[in-house]
Amino acid sequence: MANKVNQVYLDYAATTPMAEEAFEAMLPYFREEFGNPSSLHRFGQRAEAALEEARETVARHLNCDVEEVIFTSGGTESDNLALRGCALARQRQNGANHILISAVEHHAVSHTAEQLAHHFGFEVETLPVDSQGMVSPEEVRKRIRPETALVSIIYANNEIGTINRIDEIGKICREEGIPFHTDAVQATAYLPLDVNRLNIDLLSLGAHKFYGPKGIGVLYLRKDTPFISLQTGGGQEWGRRSGTPNVPYIVGMSAALKFVKAHQDLWKNTLVRLRDRLIEEVLAEIPNSQLTGHRTQRLPNHASFVFEGVESQRLVALLDNEGFACSSASACKTGNPSPSAVLLALGLPRELAMGSLRVTLGKDTSEEDLDGFIRCLKSVIARLRR
Ligand SMILES: Cc1ncc(COP(=O)(O)O)c(C=O)c1O
Repeated sequence: MANKVNQVYLDYAATTPMAEEAFEAMLPYFREEFGNPSSLHRFGQRAEAALEEARETVARHLNCDVEEVIFTSGGTESDNLALRGCALARQRQNGANHILISAVEHHAVSHTAEQLAHHFGFEVETLPVDSQGMVSPEEVRKRIRPETALVSIIYANNEIGTINRIDEIGKICREEGIPFHTDAVQATAYLPLDVNRLNIDLLSLGAHKFYGPKGIGVLYLRKDTPFISLQTGGGQEWGRRSGTPNVPYIVGMSAALKFVKAHQDLWKNTLVRLRDRLIEEVLAEIPNSQLTGHRTQRLPNHASFVFEGVESQRLVALLDNEGFACSSASACKTGNPSPSAVLLALGLPRELAMGSLRVTLGKDTSEEDLDGFIRCLKSVIARLRR
């Protein structure tokens, strides 16, 4: 996708442009249909009808009941609500004080778990991953204890694209009677989300990763899962998340979900072909480059690399100058870049982890975009190494 200044967007894991269908669906709910779904009059009733229709769309997609769908402000809130809401309820219920997460969780999960450890007396155990970023289901089984409050394992990783064996992990948690949460924020556009087949008790979604608006998401919460609400007030969302629902954004998210469902199969084939070509050419033509994450069990649109002797912040800046928007995995909030914890968890040396690049494709990515990108990447890396 090239925008007005001919910039090619290759950062669909960061966010996606909104689908026309989602944008159009939202518009009436800002002005003509502005009612509060809790109001008894017709304005309210029409807003409520739109809200409940969107909830049904989400419930169908997840194969769950409408009462199990909680609308939130996005992936971060859903992860926070899942971990804190369920762990605190389990602690109160039976003193459970152990939380099991993986070493490749998004910060919305790992930082929430850390806070539960620092302020609420939980012990957080972090499962290692293999060199391709995958969690071993058997390792999950070994680490579950009678006092485990919750297991949370990411479905598909944002930095390295690796897809976990969520169904197997869910089955183990089900057998052990432990609630299982998965962060499916990156998975939604491409992977199956049937919560029953996958044995999931709590699941997080965020609309802006699947061509919907930013600032809206879903927490799926299986019936009878222990849960304490964190936001109290008017009792919306069955008292689990009070606050007037964001009707236009919820309608937009539901339209985006229909949009990805309609195109999923087509995209998958095209994107896997483009992704594999990108990976093969980069590894063949750029010396001392390495793929991060799993070679095949990865998101169809996701390619990620590390390059020896390259500093990723500079690489991303130079690529941007040349017209290509990608991202790196290292954070630089203090002027002192640090390597990503996810890349270190794969066992990569620190220096190599500092040379990361994530290239994520989407519905508008073309062969020509990739031709230009690969040519540019080769020359930029050669320049940086000189
Ligand atoms: C795996 C994962 N979880 C959670 C989030 C946070 O979602 P949001 O931006 O909707 O708060 C992201 C966004 O980058 C993500 O990639």
